Amino acid sequence: MTAFPTERPRRLRRTGWIRDLVRETRLSRESLVYPLFVVEGKGVRDEIDAMPGQFHYSVDTLLKEAVEAKDLGIRAILLFGLPGRKDAAGSEAHAEEGVVQRALRALRSEVPDLGLMTDVCLCGYTDHGHCGKIADGEIDNDATLEILGKVALSHARAGADFVAPSDMMDGRVGFIREVLDAHGFPGTGILAYSAKFASSYYGPFREAAHSSPGEGDRRGYQMDPANRREAMRELILDAEEGADMLMVKPALPCLDVIRDARERFELPIAAYQVSGEYATIVAAAERGWVDRNQMMMESLTAIRRAGADIVVTYFAKEAARLLARV
Ligand code: PBG
Ligand code: ZN
Repeated sequence: MTAFPTERPRRLRRTGWIRDLVRETRLSRESLVYPLFVVEGKGVRDEIDAMPGQFHYSVDTLLKEAVEAKDLGIRAILLFGLPGRKDAAGSEAHAEEGVVQRALRALRSEVPDLGLMTDVCLCGYTDHGHCGKIADGEIDNDATLEILGKVALSHARAGADFVAPSDMMDGRVGFIREVLDAHGFPGTGILAYSAKFASSYYGPFREAAHSSPGEGDRRGYQMDPANRREAMRELILDAEEGADMLMVKPALPCLDVIRDARERFELPIAAYQVSGEYATIVAAAERGWVDRNQMMMESLTAIRRAGADIVVTYFAKEAARLLARV
């Protein structure tokens, strides 16, 4: 015996208003975080080749972009810095007058109710392009923690609401938590890039952030995309070390991991729709092979459906515009 002809799921798809009523996953502007790249200089607004529609901003033009984002209903941005100077230890990453630090102070005073998050890593600041300090040809985990602690603290001092360590060193969440607490920043949160895979989808970003490793790759610290159980282990460790939010990255290739994270934790789960996810949609749409808006909304909805509360996406403004229309 089959349920048909009594059961007819198509009844709930018959018209637009029914589909609207029964939609299970809703995308909202409030759940989007907009990543932005800040550079030295003044009046800079240079388009990033591999990420059409995304730009390098100097602090002054960044302020305008941030206001625009806020006016579209976006609640938070995630800042990446491109320093004027790189060295072996990435020391510009914690300079008081560094680009991110100056951007934070300006944003804090000019765009007060916009959430400010910062990427905490060294790859954009080291001359070798790795996410940690190198000693004897290897990434020295514990020496890197000391530097990351300084970076996070400098961001907190400059006004960051959340710091987001993306380096994948062991123990960094707990270390950063201790440093922040010890220096009077117990209210500054940590958005941990917990399950961060060594992904080809970061390609365009490395052009955007000038952060490609000169030699080797990141597989010694970022996770093997084949490993789902290991992702859980990383998530558990970061939660235990005091992360306030847990992030999975990239997003669309990792929907299963996002779902695992959602089911295991009470903490908010974020997912990062990374540069390569953005660029592939943009490029295919430019060729007329796919519909840009539809693929953007479908991918963002899928990430939310998998269980992400928060989606970090370069489409934030574009999606916000579409969501605001009606
Ligand atoms: C820095 C960092 C990267 C991204 C976010 N933070 C690059 C990397 O790890 O190589 C990727 C973001 C994107 O691709 O949009 N560690
Ligand atoms: Zn890095």
